[in-house]
Amino acid sequence: MKREMIVVLDFGGQYNQLIARRVRECNVYCEVLPHYTSLDKIKELKPKGIILTGGPASVYEEDALTCEPELFSLGIPVLGICYGFQLMNHLLGGKVTKAPVREYGKTEVEIDVASKLFKDVSKKTICWMSHTDYIEEPAPGFSIIAKSESCPVVALENAEKKLYGVQFHPEVSHTQEGMKMLNNFLYEICHCSGDWKMSSYTEQMITDLKAKIGDKKVLCALSGGVDSSVAAVMISKAVGKQLTCIFVDHGLLRKNEGDEVEEIFTKQFDVNFIRVNAQERFYSKLAGVTDPEQKRKIIGEEFIRVFEEEAKKIGTVDYLVQGTIYPDVIESGHGKSAVIKSHHNVGGLPDHVDFKEIIEPLRSLFKDEVRKVGLELNIPEKLVFRQPFPGPGLAIRIIGDITPEKIATLQEADYIYREEIAKAGLDREIGQYFAVLTNIRTVGVMGDERTYDYTVALRAVTTTDFMTAEFAQLPWEVLSKVSCRIVNEVKHVNRVCYDITGKPPATIEWE
Ligand code: XMP
Repeated sequence: MKREMIVVLDFGGQYNQLIARRVRECNVYCEVLPHYTSLDKIKELKPKGIILTGGPASVYEEDALTCEPELFSLGIPVLGICYGFQLMNHLLGGKVTKAPVREYGKTEVEIDVASKLFKDVSKKTICWMSHTDYIEEPAPGFSIIAKSESCPVVALENAEKKLYGVQFHPEVSHTQEGMKMLNNFLYEICHCSGDWKMSSYTEQMITDLKAKIGDKKVLCALSGGVDSSVAAVMISKAVGKQLTCIFVDHGLLRKNEGDEVEEIFTKQFDVNFIRVNAQERFYSKLAGVTDPEQKRKIIGEEFIRVFEEEAKKIGTVDYLVQGTIYPDVIESGHGKSAVIKSHHNVGGLPDHVDFKEIIEPLRSLFKDEVRKVGLELNIPEKLVFRQPFPGPGLAIRIIGDITPEKIATLQEADYIYREEIAKAGLDREIGQYFAVLTNIRTVGVMGDERTYDYTVALRAVTTTDFMTAEFAQLPWEVLSKVSCRIVNEVKHVNRVCYDITGKPPATIEWE
């Protein structure tokens, strides 16, 4: 399907994906490409506009990331942001140097309201700055369209060539009118029509999948997470019962979760659904194992074996569905973050399943877009807005060895925690929250009796990308209620702690 697009050239800044998401929120499709993407490739894509992202370097350093200067004479509108802005100015003959004052944080900026980039923006507006370099001399042909008290060149334009640049970050919410500016770039300068809408994407994807799959067979490993569920439902809308979903219940899911997944996929959607109750297999392989990486490895491998055995019963299939989403594509494509993600990749691909091709219907979508598609497909909100849950499940939330009793204890404690968070209306605000069963036993008193029981730790974090996180400042009343309920209702727990560490230095999970 041909649709208009914007290319976001990535110079390694922390907000790159955010820029792309913002553009899509304005109903324009965009892709993030590495800064070294060739001019030919860019021309081939026929973008309506190009955005250069920020980045940590200085343009005048010897090995600074760069792009081909001809990019600016293709006749395609360009918006440079922060580093991208400085780079454009540098390559086109202006001067960038270290600023006498480093600007960081919310800054009042005075703009030239006549510029198309600032249509309907207030004359004085708050923008988010984060830079050590600044533009000392604008490149020839450019005029200054914004300044701040300590920075004489906050934005530049060469309206004739449709080249624009801003020193601040319009994509972050601290820039109060940033969305208006991005919208202006897309609609006033690039003349986009806004054809990226989730409803039409879903419809089109289903039609394309129908055409591609024809009467062939498709197999999906369903985890009950958002991505694999949305991918599966989408395929089922396209080809119905030609899809078989295999759901491996490894016995390390949260309370009731296995039944909930089964209920949705058997009652609400028309797929062949196979639930494999493999709890005992996993428990016996995990017995006595305490090392977290070892647990991950065992679960990953066992998962593949179980999946393969079931798939063999079905025989040859033509397609295997994967719930890959766009951030995975960007990260692996640029060769970044691979190390952080590798241990999260439970199992990888099965070696012994016969299939001809992988289909990834969500490959071009961000997580929030996947959720919108999920809602379009009438998947229950409970599943669509589910918080992330690691593949190895509760195994990495039970410190030390795993036993069925410990799993049951943690399931109960975690259930209470989740229930209270939902009651307090906090479930969509917090990135991830869960209980951990530590291997510490301490002395307590219950009635007149001495107890010697386990400590449960509660974790809740706010995060945008799960690479860094802060502990959530939960209200005391909520914590107090959860703690009371856990020690009263869950056997073998006599103490509850709250984890107040950020990531880094801690990770989100305890193992
Ligand atoms: P950490 O603990 O590394 O977690 O800060 C970051 C995010 O990744 C999830 N996570 C995993 N997901 N398999 C997964 O599928 C794993 O082994 C795994 N370990 C951590 C974690 O829940 C958080 O969302």
